Amino acid sequence: MNIIEVKDYQEMSERAAKYIMGKVTANPSITLGLATGSTPVGTYKNLIRDHQENGTSYRDVTTFNLDEYVGLSGDDPNSYQYFMNEQLFNHIDINKANTHIPRGDASNLQEECMRYEELIAQNGGIELQVLGIGSNGHIGFNEPGTSFQSKTHIVQLTDSTIHANARFFDRVEDVPTKAVSMGISTIMKSKEILLLVSGENKNEAMHKLVGSEENENFPASVLKNHPSVTIIADQPALQGVKIPQL
Ligand code: GLP
Repeated sequence: MNIIEVKDYQEMSERAAKYIMGKVTANPSITLGLATGSTPVGTYKNLIRDHQENGTSYRDVTTFNLDEYVGLSGDDPNSYQYFMNEQLFNHIDINKANTHIPRGDASNLQEECMRYEELIAQNGGIELQVLGIGSNGHIGFNEPGTSFQSKTHIVQLTDSTIHANARFFDRVEDVPTKAVSMGISTIMKSKEILLLVSGENKNEAMHKLVGSEENENFPASVLKNHPSVTIIADQPALQGVKIPQL
């Protein structure tokens, strides 16, 4: 794990966007794995600005998002599909047909999980997966206790995740209690992973990530087994964390 320490959210967003732009420029038909949540919003803003000012093109890029809430259709403003359209896809030249997000409103969710997993494989896998981290160490929506062997699956969200994500909804009761998420093995198959971490509410998670052995009670710890992980984290998130020297 290569940890890049930056000052704050803004610098994290700029560095992350540059990282992604570099990959897209080097391989214009790259397959990216994308994340939702507050963390990548600034990164997406920087990608949009660069697209407008410098013309970096996403015409041939394919994307797979990590997860989606169960029960929400793609035009629901709280869905991750809607989030991605608003925060990124509507503002760049990507072909929407090449942007994939699990369908949270599929009538058969088990089939949807299998379809999504197969679609990623048929596309030749994900080259660069962008990740955030939950304060309890979740990646995607893989909550503590999720098997490291898991593929795309239906997840029961923990109370802490429901409360953490309630800020996007009118009422906590409106937050779906289930989601479809890429599994941990799905994420680990990506050739490369870029984990973005910002803010003191992620400080404990960073301490655990750096300080603990791999264990299924802290999902992000699986990243220690991945050959190519870059973490861009800001000072509040890294406060007191001993960064391992490579
Ligand atoms: C959400 C998402 C994750 C995200 C995490 C952190 O529940 N499913 O993909 O990384 O929680 O969110 P935030 O970036 O808002 O802190």
